Amino acid sequence: MRVGVIGVGSMGRNHARIYADLTGVELVGVADQNMPAAEAVARQYNTQAYSDYLQLLDDCNPDAVTVAVPTVDHLDVAQQIIGRGIHLLVEKPIAFSVEEGEKIITAAEQAGVVLMIGHIERFNPAVIALKERLANDEVGRIFQLDARRQGPFPARVKDVGVVIDLAVHDVDVMRYVTGADIVRVFAETERRIHSTHEDLLSGLLRLSDGAVGTLTINWLTPTKIRELYVTGERGMFRVDYLTQDLYFFENATAQDGSWETIKMLRGVSEGCMIRHVVAKKEPLRIEIESFIAAACGDTPVAVTGQDGLKALAIAQAIVKSGRENQTVSL
Ligand SMILES: NC(=O)c1ccc[n+]([C@@H]2O[C@H](COP(=O)([O-])OP(=O)(O)OC[C@H]3O[C@@H](n4cnc5c(N)ncnc54)[C@H](O)[C@@H]3O)[C@@H](O)[C@H]2O)c1
Repeated sequence: MRVGVIGVGSMGRNHARIYADLTGVELVGVADQNMPAAEAVARQYNTQAYSDYLQLLDDCNPDAVTVAVPTVDHLDVAQQIIGRGIHLLVEKPIAFSVEEGEKIITAAEQAGVVLMIGHIERFNPAVIALKERLANDEVGRIFQLDARRQGPFPARVKDVGVVIDLAVHDVDVMRYVTGADIVRVFAETERRIHSTHEDLLSGLLRLSDGAVGTLTINWLTPTKIRELYVTGERGMFRVDYLTQDLYFFENATAQDGSWETIKMLRGVSEGCMIRHVVAKKEPLRIEIESFIAAACGDTPVAVTGQDGLKALAIAQAIVKSGRENQTVSL
């Protein structure tokens, strides 16, 4: 499989590193309008550098390409790739707006190319383990999902605010691990550092299965926090995305009875805490291996355009709620 990377900034250069390292994959070129950046990555991974991505597409004729340019440019670049019949992995979020995301999906369907969206957190081994355990009914009915994604402001993100850039990860993970949709949102947002967009979100979500979601997300915290808590009948899971750890805090009284009996007689009490063993692996590597397998026709697409679109639609509803100070139904 011959592959290319368009946009080798902070994320794209990691795609280039992983493609260059995969067996059966040849990194035929990288493109960045910042030519020194393209040349530096090309030198490192022994490939061709281009300042114009169209030239990369036409000269190298890749089978598959990563789009890692700023979100605002996803549509333009994706359309050129799809127009040449090339499979594409588009970094999250799928596009700048739902309308633009829909155009990418329709174009990919019509051209018959594989479109995958880079919702990397689905490939975090701790999230994979969490999903398996939730599917095994280890927590019973889910009451609440609480996502915390906080850290310092990355000055390079100019085109979107913290909701479209970061909260999109958490709403996608909530949909993914529960299999439920997010049907209602309410958000308080603030802009403290970013020149044009919100950089703080406190959000409330309702899922179609009745669970409640909360989002604490900002670019204003002087330490990086990436966590998800899932509370249900039989206890609480905690995912630490950064260390890829998965913990389970058992509800001791829930282990030998139905929730109906527990809530009437005993309530909730502290039981054992288990740190599940999770084999650590770089999530981006798992994501790219999955994309290559889908592009080869070996497996279904793990994160479809529709998945990316839903996450973006929810993120846009959160932005709207924060701006207009009202609940938004989806
Ligand atoms: N999956 C994740 O966790 C994750 C993390 C960071 C960024 N991202 C996503 O990746 C994308 C890029 O973000 P980033 O942080 O790497 O940004 P960045 O600014 O660091 O890099 C973007 C690069 O694209 C280049 N570029 C811009 N327009 C171009 C064009 N038309 N042709 C060629 N090159 C062009 C820029 O020169 C720059 O080097 C965004 O969509 C972002 O949301 C995803």
